[in-house]
Parts: sequence; structure tokens; C-alpha cells
Amino acid sequence: MATHNLLLLPGDGIGPEVMAEVKRLIDWMNRHDLGRFEHEEALVGGACYDAHGVAITEDTMEKAKAADAIIFGAVGGPKWDKVPYEARPEAGLLRLRKDLALFANIRPAICYPALAESSSLRREVVDGLDIVILRELTGGVYFGEPKTITDLGNGQKRAVDTQVYDTYEIERIARVAFELARKRRNKVTSMEKRNVMKTGVLWHEVVDEVHRRGFADVTLEHQLADAGGMQLVRWPKQFDVIVTDNLFGDMLSDVAAMLTGSLGMLPSASLGETDAKTRKRRALYEPVHGSAPDIAGKGLANPIAMIASFAMALRYSFDMGKAADLIDQAIAAALAKGLRTADIKSEGATVVGTRAMGEAILAEMERLERA
Ligand SMILES: NC(=O)c1ccc[n+]([C@@H]2O[C@H](COP(=O)([O-])OP(=O)(O)OC[C@H]3O[C@@H](n4cnc5c(N)ncnc54)[C@H](O)[C@@H]3O)[C@@H](O)[C@H]2O)c1
Repeated sequence: MATHNLLLLPGDGIGPEVMAEVKRLIDWMNRHDLGRFEHEEALVGGACYDAHGVAITEDTMEKAKAADAIIFGAVGGPKWDKVPYEARPEAGLLRLRKDLALFANIRPAICYPALAESSSLRREVVDGLDIVILRELTGGVYFGEPKTITDLGNGQKRAVDTQVYDTYEIERIARVAFELARKRRNKVTSMEKRNVMKTGVLWHEVVDEVHRRGFADVTLEHQLADAGGMQLVRWPKQFDVIVTDNLFGDMLSDVAAMLTGSLGMLPSASLGETDAKTRKRRALYEPVHGSAPDIAGKGLANPIAMIASFAMALRYSFDMGKAADLIDQAIAAALAKGLRTADIKSEGATVVGTRAMGEAILAEMERLERA
């Protein structure tokens, strides 16, 4: 069995609290021979600023580059509101994304049957939902140049952002989409605005070409991003993998997130290119939520997003789909038993804290593993 080297970056606020549950899960898997993991831990965000005056150290960057996967908690909080811009907690995460060239952001939107009531949509629309939004993360309008505000001298200003995509950027995200779909229900929906944007025209053309050249076995459909947004709340179960650019992905993934209820439930993965020699791919796994300063230190945080992020690492970095399924089933089973952290509580449920939820998920894994 191969040994997988993990770098754990718990960060700030509830980050260390939810990461503690992942550490217990890793120990459990090592003990049960379900994998062989070694892990190192380092500071990031405000915690790193307090110790070293930067949001991430060079030493930690080196460790991140060498790790098989990075498991990231959350950064930030009011304590660091006034630190210099380049040392703000988020700078640590942005540097990791940039230096490791993590261009593919995968956000599953899964609605556990036990939580269907907490969605704003009707139960039958979301119950059992399992889709993925794949967002291009390092290009497009957030990074394109020029990006300026110019004083026109006549009492007016002009703001310019530039939406720009090169063929290779679209090709590589399209490949990730088709590969993902092959491991799921084999369908990709590509979303852009080719009716009004040149980048949309190129996006559409390149996705078609990648499909034709190597992935003709996968069903491909195209939707305009505005119509796609509408479909996402009308009948989300029609989708499997949605692939889209940085801007549309930012919005559509937040919409998809709300289909499922709470921020405390949502994992994510950010992947880089596969190294031609080692066949390994740089990858960072993190919950979608932030450091939740309002509940930090109280043992109330929901650890499910963090635990499900670790399950994504098993699936996408280590090809351990079965073990990832086991974790996902254990989460569903703990919820089905009526256990809830405060953020997802409902009538008749038993409200538990971070540790108890982590323990309940481990107990379900133990049970499922023996079955
Ligand atoms: N990737 C990241 O590290 C990341 C992402 C978003 C925000 N942030 C930072 O986090 C800090 C707080 O930001 P925010 O309040 O806008 O967003 P947040 O996600 O931290 O919290 C939003 C709300 O959701 C609740 N919540 C979030 N995660 C939860 C969990 N696991 N269990 C239970 N409740 C949970 C919080 O208590 C809060 O009421 C800020 O400094 C922000 O910059 C970091």
C-alpha cells in the first residue's frame, strides 16, 4: 500500500477545531489499514502572521509543493483586519492557489436526504441531489489585464475589467470535466455566454474539440450561463458535471451551494496539472466555509464540510473511491440518525458539537466497515 503524505493547514477560527476531526479520521484509517497516511502540520493565515509576520512561510510553501495533498481548514478573522494587505490571512490561501497553479475548482453540491427540508427548494427538487460545479480558477475576468479605473477628467471615471481565455486554459479545464464525468454519471454541461461574449465563443469551440478528440463517450451539452442558472434552481438533478469559467463558476457554485442547506456541509477541491513524470497532481482540499469567528472556540462548528473535503482528497488524489464512499455514507448515516450540529438543526433532531459529530461519523464508519 502506498504511503500518502499530507500537509495539514488548519488555519484560524474553527479551522483547527474541524481539522481535529480529520486527524482522528486519518488515525482511524491508518489503524484499520484503509490507507497509509503520514501528515505534517503547519501554520497559515492569521496564526502564521502572529508567529512569523507573514500569512504563509517559504518553508510551508516548500512543504506544500512536496505534499501529495494539502488539507486546508480556514483563515481570517477580525483580529487580523488591520494587518498589512500583503500579509492578510487570505494571502496565504491565494499564494497556495497561485504558486501551485490550482486551476480547477471542484465543488460538489450534495443534498443528503436527511437535510432536504433545510433547502429553500421543495424536497423533491433537491432530495438526493449529487452534482458537481467545476470552475476555472486562475484565469478570466478576475485576472485579465487591463484592470483599471481611469479618471476621464469630466467628472466621470471609467472602470475596465478584461475577460480573457487562451485555448490551453479551456482545454485543460474541459479535460478535467470529462475525466470527472467518467467517474460519475458521464455527462458534462458546459456553460458560457457565446451569444454576447467572444470568450464564450472560444470556450464553446474548444470544449467541443476536446470532447471530439478524446471524450466522445461522455454526453456533452451546452447551455448559456444565464439559462443554466435558471435550470440549476428549476431542476438541478438534470446535471452531473457543470463546467464553466471563473466568474460564472463563482456565482453558479454559490447558487448550487444553497440548494443543499448549510455552508458547514460543503467541501471543495482545487487541482493543478498532472505532472508528466510523476503522474501526480497538485491538489488542495478545503471546506467552502470560512473561519466562523462568531462560533470559534466553542466546539459548535459542523465538521462535515472538512471531513467531506478529506473524502475528496481520497477520491481525486489517491484513487480511493471506495474509502471516500465509506466516509460519505457514514456522514449520511449519522445525519439519518437525527444528529445535527447547531447550523443544520431541525425539529426533533439531537443537537451535538464538533467532537460528537466527528465521533458519530467514525462510529458509522466502524459499523459500515464491519457490515
Ligand atoms: N477559504 C477561507 O479560508 C475563507 C472563506 C470564506 C471566508 N473566510 C474568512 O472567514 C472569516 C469569516 O467570514 P464569514 O463570516 O463571511 O464566513 P464564514 O463561512 O466563516 O461564516 C458564515 C456563517 O456561517 C457559519 N458557519 C460557517 N462555517 C460553519 C461550520 N462549519 N459550522 C457551523 N457554522 C458555520 C458561521 O458561524 C457564520 O455565521 C473572514 O475573515 C473571512 O475573510 C475565509
